[in-house]
Amino acid sequence: MAAGLWRRAVCRVLGAAKSPGPVSRRLSDARTVTLIPGDGIGPEISEAIVKIFEVAEVPICWEERTVTAIQAPSGKWIIPPEAKESMDANKIGLKGPLKTPIAAGHPSMNLLLRKTFDLYANVRPCVSIEGFKTPYSGVDLVTIRENTEGEYSGIEHVIVEGVVQSIKLITENASRRIAEFAFEYARNNQRSTVTAVHKANIMRMSDGLFLRKCREAAENCKDIKFTEMYLDTVCLNMVQDPTQFDVLVMPNLYGDILSDLCAGLIGGLGVTPSGNIGANGVAIFESVHGTAPDIAGLDLANPTALLLSAVMMLRHMELHKPAKKIEIACFETIKDGKVLTKDLGGNSKCSEFTAEICRRVRDQD
Ligand code: NAI
Repeated sequence: MAAGLWRRAVCRVLGAAKSPGPVSRRLSDARTVTLIPGDGIGPEISEAIVKIFEVAEVPICWEERTVTAIQAPSGKWIIPPEAKESMDANKIGLKGPLKTPIAAGHPSMNLLLRKTFDLYANVRPCVSIEGFKTPYSGVDLVTIRENTEGEYSGIEHVIVEGVVQSIKLITENASRRIAEFAFEYARNNQRSTVTAVHKANIMRMSDGLFLRKCREAAENCKDIKFTEMYLDTVCLNMVQDPTQFDVLVMPNLYGDILSDLCAGLIGGLGVTPSGNIGANGVAIFESVHGTAPDIAGLDLANPTALLLSAVMMLRHMELHKPAKKIEIACFETIKDGKVLTKDLGGNSKCSEFTAEICRRVRDQD
């Protein structure tokens, strides 16, 4: 282990200290999850999630790992081997925000994580939170973004001075798997409609291929309604009436932009969860906001986005009971409106907001 590079590795079997009897059962039942607290406010909001999980007695054992950019002897940027080994073994991770200094010289660690574990589907449910007033109500949609290619393939070059070319890469395989994922997601989550978002009228070959794969997936999933819509039309319709949308599937760049727009409809990145899903059960759930360096260490951060991402993670792991319990406690705290962080319109600290959620988790017992 490179000295000083790694934070402590924590493996706590939650609830074990309280009742010695069931410890062995809990030990054998508990699944280990890799926790990447991240930078800035990351450690504070991660601590909040660990506390809430402890109170809810979620059968999870956390293995904490730091993710910083390191360079292999070949010159290639990689994520630290201990973080990779932990994810390889555990398959499931929860991640706080990671900073990407503009002049750092290394790629975004978020992108590197997605690449390393082939997390091809970015899933963001956007659901209006009762009691948290925004210009929209009744929003209940999910954006599914292809995470590995498109304009974010990193293929750019200078053709002649003053002319730069950036390649949009769309492959049949990646399009097929994200399209199939979207329909499977819709089916597993009692959703009725999948809309393919594209610009195949302009990018006939690339988006045309993406759209064809969506149509094929739709053919094999007749119980889910399929619609297709140009990206610009989706944007227009989204701001006019977002309640008309259900599940939306799209290539990388469109998803990056549209998913933030959708987060804005329900109150912003501070309340929007997300999951990056790969093959063979590998998945990293993360808050989509940044490291908030302006409030880091001040106990002012809102842990909701990371908490709801953790709830998504529990559902992915089929731990539906604690997921529901924690989600109810979180939404009731926000609806009640007495203990809210500043970004939610209150004056409470992160620790006070967390304590209130914990109290409401306990009250359900
Ligand atoms: P940011 O999201 O960190 O901050 C924007 C504003 O939102 C700030 O005023 C901040 O205080 C506030 N904010 C963000 N999250 C909050 C929370 N949970 N509770 C309360 N207030 C919150 O965006 P910014 O400043 O552009 O990026 C800072 C760093 O974060 C950069 O290094 C960037 O690369 C990184 N970043 C990482 C992401 C990730 O890991 N998924 C996503 C976006 C940015």
